[in-house]
Amino acid sequence: MLYYITYHRFLRGPARWALMGLPNHILQDLIATACRVSTFVYAPYSHFPVGAAVLAEHDEIFAGCNVENASYSLAICAERNAIFQAVAHGKTSIKAVVIYTPTSKPVAPCGACRQVIYEFGLEADVISVCEGADRIQKKPLDLLPEVFGLHNLP
Ligand code: THU
Repeated sequence: MLYYITYHRFLRGPARWALMGLPNHILQDLIATACRVSTFVYAPYSHFPVGAAVLAEHDEIFAGCNVENASYSLAICAERNAIFQAVAHGKTSIKAVVIYTPTSKPVAPCGACRQVIYEFGLEADVISVCEGADRIQKKPLDLLPEVFGLHNLP
């Protein structure tokens, strides 16, 4: 039910989702995908569902959700799961990442995910959406200033 309400709100919602640089229909697809995949999370420990959708080359979309483990540190976040899906399909250039949480305020990616987003999408739009009207939209370098990267390696 939550998914149904969220899906329709976002797909039919006002033009506030028409963000600069990302065609609105693609953004809507990304949001719908992130919402949908957030219903498949395996999060019995945190009970904190996160869905992510990645826009890769040729506008292909890859989805990921958080997957936890009884050995807590083995959990993987939705964003990295989605990016690794893209890489596993031969796509290593990320144009956008949408993160959905069923919260009243948007949630920005964790530090580890910021590093991975930077690796594959230096210029990617990173957009967090939620049940409320607020969103966060940033570039990887805004999320991770002075980032460590390929440029640091000899
Ligand atoms: N989580 C994500 O999936 N993405 C983030 O950026 C932050 C945290 C997940 C990991 C864990 O399953 C749960 O949220 C609580 O930390």
